[in-house]
Amino acid sequence: MSGPIWKKDGASGAPDAAVMDFLAGEDVVLDRQLIDFDITASQAHVRGLQAIDVLTEDEADKLVSGLARIREKLAAGELKLDTSFEDGHSALETWLTEMLGPVGGKVHTGRSRNDQVAVAMRLYLKDRLGRLADVCLQTADALLERAQAEANIPMPGYTHLQRAMPSSVGMWLAGHAEAFLDNAALAGSTRDWLDASPLGTASGFGVNLPLAREQVREQLGFARLLVNPQYAQNSRGKVEGQALSALAAATTDLRRLAWDLSLFTTSEFDFVRLPDDFCTGSSIMPNKRNPDAVELLRAAHGVVAGARVELDSVLSLPSGYQRDLQATKPPVLRAFAAGLQALDLAPGLVTAMKWNESAMRAAISPDTFATDLSVELALEGKPFREAYREAAARIAGMNAGDVAKSLSARVSPGAPGALMLDELGARAKAIRANLK
Ligand code: ARG
Repeated sequence: MSGPIWKKDGASGAPDAAVMDFLAGEDVVLDRQLIDFDITASQAHVRGLQAIDVLTEDEADKLVSGLARIREKLAAGELKLDTSFEDGHSALETWLTEMLGPVGGKVHTGRSRNDQVAVAMRLYLKDRLGRLADVCLQTADALLERAQAEANIPMPGYTHLQRAMPSSVGMWLAGHAEAFLDNAALAGSTRDWLDASPLGTASGFGVNLPLAREQVREQLGFARLLVNPQYAQNSRGKVEGQALSALAAATTDLRRLAWDLSLFTTSEFDFVRLPDDFCTGSSIMPNKRNPDAVELLRAAHGVVAGARVELDSVLSLPSGYQRDLQATKPPVLRAFAAGLQALDLAPGLVTAMKWNESAMRAAISPDTFATDLSVELALEGKPFREAYREAAARIAGMNAGDVAKSLSARVSPGAPGALMLDELGARAKAIRANLK
């Protein structure tokens, strides 16, 4: 390329190569994930300039189709966003100018790379939060489907990792399902919360043009304008933080689900057999079948948690654009890539794993019926504390209880005898409808 887009006539040009490298660094490579959104936003900006007669129809058509061609060439590998550019924004203008001549430089009238990156990031976040909501719903669906089919398979319930009460596979599955419903709803509401267009705020102070911000907003599918140019810059990093928070809710629940499965698949528990696709062997121990995939699902939250700390560490800034804001990009892109990659595996895992019913039945020891007994005694009119002590005294001599009876009698709403799977299914439907 011919030097940075901000190079002025007669000026000596770019900074030293090492400094340029430091300024652009990983950023231009990360822009590969944003450039598609940048192209979409640039096309809308061009149409906005046409609407206020800053560009002729012919110029606007040339720029819009030039941008479309750049998109195609990038996809075909004929153009490459690499470190010869300072960033993706500069690359677009450079390519347009190479393709169209000086008219290419008109794309940047009335905008700054500051609102350009902000709008690309918001479009990216809306896309990724939509995917997040979607995979959370798919995970909830997979869990609920199994919960319907296997509601009454017994499973011991644990507190403190000690046997507590007879429980069910339905309870375990529906519990994880409800978590992912919450996560889908959170992803959706976070997407709505940040659904505002910063395009047309330029470098943070507006411009001396009556920009068609509303038309551009509508073309890009944003729900509202991000009105204040200063806040358009000050909100950078803040919206990313909320998006990561929604992602972290999902990866936290994925971690817990994966934890349960890695425990349940041990020989000591032996409650579940993980699908072959999710297991590996050992390079030295021929006997091993290791749950590596589940363990790395558990570890995925670490990437997200680290990204949140990194992002927050950058954000001690005064008002307006600071180049520090560029450093908010790597943790966000890294976290969404790793988080979504992990979450995408969850529905398949949940669908394919197999329960070992006899091992679970065997682990429901007689003592775990003591709570049922205390409540039954209390129903005879005894104060619960008295019933509790009487049941405690009888534990040693207790015979194996009737698990099916215990489960079907557990009718407090949401409990194994009244799982309310229909309500959870209806909520999944409502969340899905809301996301459209
Ligand atoms: N890569 C930059 C960022 O992410 C783009 C904006 C550059 N703006 C500037 N004034 N240097 O922040």
